[in-house]
Amino acid sequence: MESFKGATILVTGASSGIGEAFACALAKRGANLILTARSEDKLRQIAGALSEKHAIQVNVFPGDLSRPDMPQRLWAQVQSASLSVDVLINNAGFGKCGHFLGHDYQNYQDMLNLNINALVSLTHLFLPSMLKRGNGGVINVASTAAFQPIPYLATYSATKAFVLSFSESLWGEYREHGLTVLALCPGNTSTNFADVANADVTRMTKAESPETVVEAGLKAFLKGRNHVIPGRAVNYLLANLSRLLSRRRVIGITSGLFKPDPAPPDIPKM
Ligand SMILES: NC(=O)c1ccc[n+]([C@@H]2O[C@H](COP(=O)([O-])OP(=O)(O)OC[C@H]3O[C@@H](n4cnc5c(N)ncnc54)[C@H](OP(=O)(O)O)[C@@H]3O)[C@@H](O)[C@H]2O)c1
Repeated sequence: MESFKGATILVTGASSGIGEAFACALAKRGANLILTARSEDKLRQIAGALSEKHAIQVNVFPGDLSRPDMPQRLWAQVQSASLSVDVLINNAGFGKCGHFLGHDYQNYQDMLNLNINALVSLTHLFLPSMLKRGNGGVINVASTAAFQPIPYLATYSATKAFVLSFSESLWGEYREHGLTVLALCPGNTSTNFADVANADVTRMTKAESPETVVEAGLKAFLKGRNHVIPGRAVNYLLANLSRLLSRRRVIGITSGLFKPDPAPPDIPKM
């Protein structure tokens, strides 16, 4: 794919943060958009502003992607509107920070459904028509958390390790068919993520703007890259620590990033 102009691009999690920045950057480049997230009002506000400013077509299909039936429903809505997706951006996701047993299992179930199951399902649903055209692809938003285990962010970092591995495997399968599957791996980025995760990011590297992350992602996608770590060199270094140190040592370092101050909750008795 040489440019995004005139392409139809589906962005999940487009109501804020990195997803909203994707919508704005792509609208500026003349792409038509399909936006989804749970917050319908925010999506309609973003859609109205972007379609007016850039004279593009923007469709809004709100929904909760942690619900197992939502990816299929979204795909059916796109078909009924006679839209054909050139690029799918699987961006919606969230984390929960703290002791593993400090959160109800439902939090993890929703996280696994959103960060992994919806992403795989949407990729499976939208890839065939891209393959037929031999053009386009998928941007999956992973994280620098994908590269190593992170105590106190265990389930989230494992979901992102899945996203990175899955995306790069598909990159290897489909690049000879003209498609790109990119894993975008941001470090700390100034969005609502930390509030939703209840994460203290003061021990993290300085936050990038979502716009910087998106620019790096769009550039890497057009270059046909398999993954990209946007922003400062320190993000690249952190992501590649396990190439330099033993895994045990790396876990020792990442343990310090999100260790909560209060004592761990009681371990349930078996
Ligand atoms: N910010 C960081 O430091 C950072 C670093 C690395 C990777 N990431 C990744 O970047 C992606 C975007 O996050 P962000 O940083 O932009 O955070 P954000 O501002 O909280 O945005 C998350 C987006 O996902 C949507 N979303 C959440 N739950 C959803 C659900 N159940 N169904 C549908 N949409 C849902 C949210 O919209 P609604 O609430 O309206 O549904 C929102 O649009 C995530 O995959 C995150 O893991 C973030």
